[in-house]
Amino acid sequence: MKILEIEGGKTLSGTVRISGAKNSAVALIPAAILSDEKVTICNVPEITDIDALCEILNHLGAQVKRASESIVIEANGMKNKAIPASMSKKLRASYYFMGALLGKYGKVKMRFPGGCSIGTRPINLHLKGFEALGAKILEEDNCYLIEAEKLHGANIYLDTASVGATINIMLAAVKAKGKTVIDNAAKEPEIVNVATLLNNMGAKITGAGTSTIKIQGVSSLGGCFHEVIPDRIEAGTYLILGACCGNHVKIDNIIPGHLEALTSKLEEAGVEMEIGADFIIVSKPEHPKAIQVRTQPYPGFATDLQQPLTAFLTLCDGKSKIDETIWENRFMHVPYLNQLGADIRIKNQTATIKGPTELVGTTVVATDLRAGASLVIAGLMAEGITKITNVEHILRGYEQIVEKLTNIGANIKEREI
Ligand code: EPZ
Repeated sequence: MKILEIEGGKTLSGTVRISGAKNSAVALIPAAILSDEKVTICNVPEITDIDALCEILNHLGAQVKRASESIVIEANGMKNKAIPASMSKKLRASYYFMGALLGKYGKVKMRFPGGCSIGTRPINLHLKGFEALGAKILEEDNCYLIEAEKLHGANIYLDTASVGATINIMLAAVKAKGKTVIDNAAKEPEIVNVATLLNNMGAKITGAGTSTIKIQGVSSLGGCFHEVIPDRIEAGTYLILGACCGNHVKIDNIIPGHLEALTSKLEEAGVEMEIGADFIIVSKPEHPKAIQVRTQPYPGFATDLQQPLTAFLTLCDGKSKIDETIWENRFMHVPYLNQLGADIRIKNQTATIKGPTELVGTTVVATDLRAGASLVIAGLMAEGITKITNVEHILRGYEQIVEKLTNIGANIKEREI
C-alpha cells in the first residue's frame, strides 16, 4: 500500500506549474474516437485516470500513442466491444464512452462507471438525453445496452445543469441527423474545451459555456490538434495551499478567470494575491477571517474546491460555514481534519468550522480525491508527521504532486508500506 508521509509546519515558496485539466482530458479522450482521422491532444496530465482511459481505448482496438504530455489517437481500426466492469469502474468519466460510442456506432454496452463515492451520482439525465436522441436503453445488473437505429436531433432540457450529461449528450448528438438543443446545460470551462475539440474535428456546436448549446449534426468528423485547458481545480488546490503556508507561492500556467469564485472568497478572508494574465502569487495572511461558502455549478464556487478550502478555514478567526449543494456525501475529510486538531461540526449539508485551531500530525485516510487534497494541505500545515493512506485516490487527479510540493520546499514522501 502507498502512503504519503508529510512533515508539516514549513513555509513554502516558489513556483508550481499547473497541468492540463483532468476533467477536460477525461472527456476529450473519449470524444476523439468520434473522428475518422488522427487526433492529437496535448497538455494531457499524467495521472492514473488517463491511464485507465487509455486501457479502454486499447481494449477497443484504437491506436494510442502517448509521449509525455500528448496523446495521439487513431480510431478508424476500432471495434465496438462491450467495456468490462473491471475497466469502467476505475473512473467516473468512463461514462463518456457511452456518448462517444453511441455517437460513432449507434450502439454501446458498458457497466455503470466508478469514481469517487461522494454521493449517489445518478446518470438519469445522460440516459434521458440519449433517449431523446432516439436511443433505446436496456439495463440489467448495472449493465447498460444503449442502441439507436438512427440518432436524430432533439430539444433536451436538463433538470439539473449536469457537467457529465451535457458533455455526453454533445458526444452522442454531434453526428445525429438534424439539430439538437440542450437547455439548462452546464457552463463549466471543461465543456467549452470539449466543444472546441469537436468543432476542430468538424462539428457544428455553438453556445458552449452558456446554458443553451446548439448542435447541428454532421456526417463525419476529421482529425485535429487540440490543447487541454489548465486544471482550475489543481490550480485552486495549490492556491489554497499557498494561503495556508506560503510565502510568495506562484501558481503558474493558469486561467485566473476560471478561479474567480475562489479568489474572491480568499480575498474576503483577507488573503492578498497578485493576479497576472496566467498566474497568481499568494502568501499566507496574518489574521484570516471566517467566511461563508456555498458550492454551486460554474461560475459559482466549485464543489471540488470545497474540501481543500476546509483546511484553510481552520486557520480563520471565527465561525466559517460551507454549504455543500452538489454532492450529498462530500464531507468525508472532516473527521480526519478533526483528528488533526480542527473543530468542525456537520449538520445536514453544512459544515461549521471554528477557528483558528492548531493542527498536529497523525495518520489519516484519503477517502476520495479532493478529501485527499484537503488532508495533504492540512498535513503541510500541521506540526509533526502526518501519514495519509489510500493515496491512489490522490494520484488519480494530481500530476506529480510529490515533486511539485517538494519543489516549493515541502517535506513530503511517497512510501510503500
Ligand atoms: C463532474 O462530475 C466532475 N467530474 C466532478 O469532479 C464535479 O464534482 C462535478 O462535475 C460538479 O462540478 C468530472 O468532470 C469527471 P454532474 P459529474 O453531473 O459530471 C446531479 C472531481 O473531484 N445529477 O455535474 O458526475 C448529481 O447528482 C470530480 O474531480 C443528476 O441528478 O457531475 C449532482 O448533484 C468529483 N442526474 C449534480 O447533478 C444525472 O444524470 C451535478 O453532477 C447527473 C447528475
